[in-house]
Amino acid sequence: MTMGRAPARLVLLGTGGTIASTAGRASQLTDYAVTEGIEAMLAAVPGAEALGAIRCEQVFNVDSRRFSTARVLRLARRIDTLLRDPAVDGVVVTHGTDTLEETAFFLHLTIRHPKPVVLVGAMRPGSALSADGPLNLYNALLVARDPLSRDCGILVAMNDSILAARHIAKGHTTRVDAFRAEGPGTLGGISDGTVRILQRPALPATAAFPLKGLRGLPAVDILYDHQDAGEHLYQAAIEAGAAGIVVAGLGNGSLSPAAIRGCARARRHGIQCVRASRVPHGEVTAKATDARDGILASHGLNPQQARTLLRLALATGLDTDAIRMALKDA
Ligand code: SIN
Repeated sequence: MTMGRAPARLVLLGTGGTIASTAGRASQLTDYAVTEGIEAMLAAVPGAEALGAIRCEQVFNVDSRRFSTARVLRLARRIDTLLRDPAVDGVVVTHGTDTLEETAFFLHLTIRHPKPVVLVGAMRPGSALSADGPLNLYNALLVARDPLSRDCGILVAMNDSILAARHIAKGHTTRVDAFRAEGPGTLGGISDGTVRILQRPALPATAAFPLKGLRGLPAVDILYDHQDAGEHLYQAAIEAGAAGIVVAGLGNGSLSPAAIRGCARARRHGIQCVRASRVPHGEVTAKATDARDGILASHGLNPQQARTLLRLALATGLDTDAIRMALKDA
């Protein structure tokens, strides 16, 4: 609800993406560049000033394909610090949509706080006909200021939906309804200025990794499996010094003969291997042969989520059994 409450104190963190981009023509929906700072983006949202005291911070201003570990850690630490500030009621982060799900899942695994954290992006640049950024941003601010959004974990507000970071994935390359959330991931929506939370995450976060002490994250590669796959990419990952490999496997995480041989070779070098799936929906279930092969099932995590969890698990020194449990419980 938006009426009759003390003004919220929100911090709006800008990181770039299409929501911060403009193109030469209104009909141009691709080939644009990040041009707008976070203050200008907020100023372009009519009515935002009525939503509370909103402080803008530009953390960086890049396409999300340029997000590095250092940038994700910097953003996560800034959010963590802001949430601990009693003068802040909630945080909104503008983000490119291409890797938004990776940052969102990283925050899901590392940040625990009842205050709302809402990630938001846009599929069309600010200069476009029917740009979706201003309404998405307005909605994200509504969600962040609403007490109903507390204790819901990291949220994503896109295209009138309120989605749980644990469950989101980009499911379309260009449409404004690009983000989908598996099963319980759609927590609610925003309709004509009203925030509705229809369900809360039932699972407590079991795989929480502390940000404190994290200096960097080990390299984990995702290798895409397919018919007639070769072993050479596994050798390349070994030679590049990967600490982990996630295979975007087939079906229920089954692996081609080359992927099985590649993982066996990687295991001999002490590299942790995880079987995920290139199929967008469904779990990758554990198999009796996993223990023999030293490969772990990703369970409900897609390849990029499994990679994020594996990096955190390796950085915090979890052994194989603990990583197995963390994947199962995430
Ligand atoms: C990006 O991810 O930075 C570009 C694409 C987008 O934001 O939609």
